[in-house]
Amino acid sequence: MYSLRRFNEPRFQRLDAIIDSLNEHLTTYIQLVGSATLPLPEVCAMASLPASAVRVEGHLQERYFPASEPVDLAERIIEDETRRIFSIGNEYQISAQPHSATQANHAVFRSILGERTGKVAALSPTDGGHYSFSAGVPPPHEFVPLPISAAGLDYDEVADAVRQSEPTIIVAGGSAYSRAIDFAQLRVAADQVGAHLHADLAHCAPFVAAGLHPPAFGHVDSAAIDPSKNLRGAGGGILVFRDRDAEAMREAIFPILQGSPGQLGLLAKAACMTAWSVDDLSRYAKRMMEVAQLLAEQISTLLGEPQYGGTDSHLLLYDVSDCCENGRIAEDRLRESRILVNRNQIPNDLKPPWEASGIRLSSTVPTILGYADTDVVALGEAICTVLTGSDDQSGVVDDLLARFHHPLSAVT
Ligand SMILES: Cc1ncc(COP(=O)(O)O)c(C=O)c1O
Repeated sequence: MYSLRRFNEPRFQRLDAIIDSLNEHLTTYIQLVGSATLPLPEVCAMASLPASAVRVEGHLQERYFPASEPVDLAERIIEDETRRIFSIGNEYQISAQPHSATQANHAVFRSILGERTGKVAALSPTDGGHYSFSAGVPPPHEFVPLPISAAGLDYDEVADAVRQSEPTIIVAGGSAYSRAIDFAQLRVAADQVGAHLHADLAHCAPFVAAGLHPPAFGHVDSAAIDPSKNLRGAGGGILVFRDRDAEAMREAIFPILQGSPGQLGLLAKAACMTAWSVDDLSRYAKRMMEVAQLLAEQISTLLGEPQYGGTDSHLLLYDVSDCCENGRIAEDRLRESRILVNRNQIPNDLKPPWEASGIRLSSTVPTILGYADTDVVALGEAICTVLTGSDDQSGVVDDLLARFHHPLSAVT
């Protein structure tokens, strides 16, 4: 699927070692970490071009260096294709420039929080949010956790909490929240106090684009999209914002948070967003959800229902404290059996993040690799057996690895 180009000179030995190590990673592990993907081959091909030959600072049509046409074209393509995939209307503008989803979020924090102390309300990292939601709020502004329970978001409770805390910004999205988010309900909550509603679509982008989750655009004021999660891109963010906030958002990205936009990253984003048809994205999103639900059926025999009452996405979050003491031990056991998941806190977790009470899994990579239902069932059963330590599962893991997890193919 991916090509292998050797350097074959003594001074590049360590680079060849990286390639070997990557190859080994791809063929040794069943990768189920929540944010993991396999980039599209088109993305890797575009990212290998010498685009940093073109010097760029500033926004489209306001460049600080001459002759930026190739990068201008890449930015325009990302904007057009993002609009196409997500059906984004003309009331929004798009910046292809952020280096990451975190930076896109922070551009929103910086441009919307005013002079007076404001508040950002979001899921805390303990409750399924991303670390940058709380850590990224610039002082003297404050972070306010949104209420959530193991049953998921209760929008009436969220609306009450918003009325009480009066945040300036509400962030909709998370790293471990497996359910669909109702952006229209959050809009109603935000409007009670005139808050800016920002969607972090890092994980749920394909489901929103496919219409499997409720629509975001039309309800939110801004959104961060991360092609490197389950859109099969490389690293980098895309920020969507309303016309009225455009000047502040663009200024927050450049020159406040970054200089040049990362030319290789722009080519990779252009390839990623161009490669998806809405039909392909819908099929992929639907299958990711099916695989996650099938995996959940198997794992539930050992761990019960996933947190938040199930999944409408690629994500599953489980409390493992009954079988493994903590998430770290579960992660280690699975890694020894060549299955990668990450330890993760669960709602109201009393354990610190490096131990945590839970594990988070994603169906993205098995979906991309074309696991059939029987393979997903075998994987789910193997996970349960490994977690209880009752039997060796190397036969099942070897079989899945041999049939689906292929090495880089050599090019001459
Ligand atoms: C919801 C969410 N937002 C942002 C990020 C960070 O993305 P990036 O690595 O592009 O900064 C993550 C990482 O997994 C995430 O889960």
